[in-house]
Amino acid sequence: MTTFRHLMTGLATAALLASGAIAEELTIVHGSIGRDQENLRDQLDRFEAETGHTVTIVSMPESTTDQFGQYRLWLSAQSSDIDVYRLDVIWAPQLAQHFVDLSPHVQDIIDDFVPAAVESQTVDGKLVALPMFLGAPALYYRADLLEKYGRDVPTTWQEMTETAQIIMDGERAEGDDDMWGFVFQGAAYEGLTCNAQEWIVSNGGGRIVELDGSIGINNPAAAEALTLAASWVGGISPEGVLNYKEEDARGVFQSGNAVFMRNWNYAYALAAGEDSPVRDSFAVTTLPTGGDGLPSAATLGGWHLGVSAYSEHQEAAIELVRFLNNYDNQKERAIELSRPPTLTAVYDDPEVAAEQEFIPLWKPVVDNALPRPSAATLRKYNEVSAAFWTATHNTMSGDGTAEENLARLEAELNRLRGPRW
Ligand code: GLC
Repeated sequence: MTTFRHLMTGLATAALLASGAIAEELTIVHGSIGRDQENLRDQLDRFEAETGHTVTIVSMPESTTDQFGQYRLWLSAQSSDIDVYRLDVIWAPQLAQHFVDLSPHVQDIIDDFVPAAVESQTVDGKLVALPMFLGAPALYYRADLLEKYGRDVPTTWQEMTETAQIIMDGERAEGDDDMWGFVFQGAAYEGLTCNAQEWIVSNGGGRIVELDGSIGINNPAAAEALTLAASWVGGISPEGVLNYKEEDARGVFQSGNAVFMRNWNYAYALAAGEDSPVRDSFAVTTLPTGGDGLPSAATLGGWHLGVSAYSEHQEAAIELVRFLNNYDNQKERAIELSRPPTLTAVYDDPEVAAEQEFIPLWKPVVDNALPRPSAATLRKYNEVSAAFWTATHNTMSGDGTAEENLARLEAELNRLRGPRW
């Protein structure tokens, strides 16, 4: 069967080349996390076999903030070295000018995509990137430990804090010195912005910048949320959480050393993987709230594929973007990587439901996920986010109270905004 398929693909390639199609050498850049790169390589191998083009992966560091810095350097130098960029959902407004408008090239397929995802990548009518996968975090928890200690799945941050403390103390008393209560992304980067916006919105403290561009973040509910989070550091969370990104948190949880973890969807397939020590003992729920009547908030994440305006192989690059986002490839990512698709129909695919229960389960959370204010703050988003994660990180490091840091943040946001965003 495999040999037959190879033979057929070989023939298809030969036919393509004979028909005069030019084989191009493309480059795609993306940040590697979990098994993303392995899966991408497999899909690229199939693209190469089908089209005769070759594609090289340029791998970036895990942190989206580090990637943004590097991407900005390449793009402002108008470098033709990279053809396709995997772009964080938040970047479209800031980077739009450097990308090809994909809308005329995807008219035949765009209606199959989740409308909100397309909207997030559309800037002044230009489609900056074709949506690849979405993200909405979960609270991962150790169902076995909750049962052992007779604790309910927490619905508020207060309950989560108490339960984490009780179980961590109990496990340590039994000799498990490595056990922690809660791990998350606490390093000073975009990941902390996502976590902290969830704590604050779910406590009724509003958004970093409201949808209409107004700034109300310096308020008691926001301060209360940050104060609680600061109490975790060195308590239910290791001091080192102040340097944790996604993979650090996953490493602790997946090796069995944390009761709770906040993380994105990709962690599910890995924690449920055959080699995972917690594969039979963890479960997921929505992130807690600040109390009765308050909403759970899950930040909207995701990564999308844009074609560089400086690429010398734009046609082949567009072909690649379409290929990587086609039904089969999205379905494979949903099953193997638990990455929420951007094609609506993949959510209803019975094989996806059978092989990756997290995807249909999480559809409503993805649908209701909370965007960051990248549209409201336009070209200033990165600076806005940096000011916000700095205020949060300082509070959690004991450098000023939440009230002091939020007052400073408010002044900084007003300065960044000036008369308008
Ligand atoms: C995930 C999300 C992305 C977010 C990042 C923060 O990769 O998909 O949108 O910016 O985490 O660390």
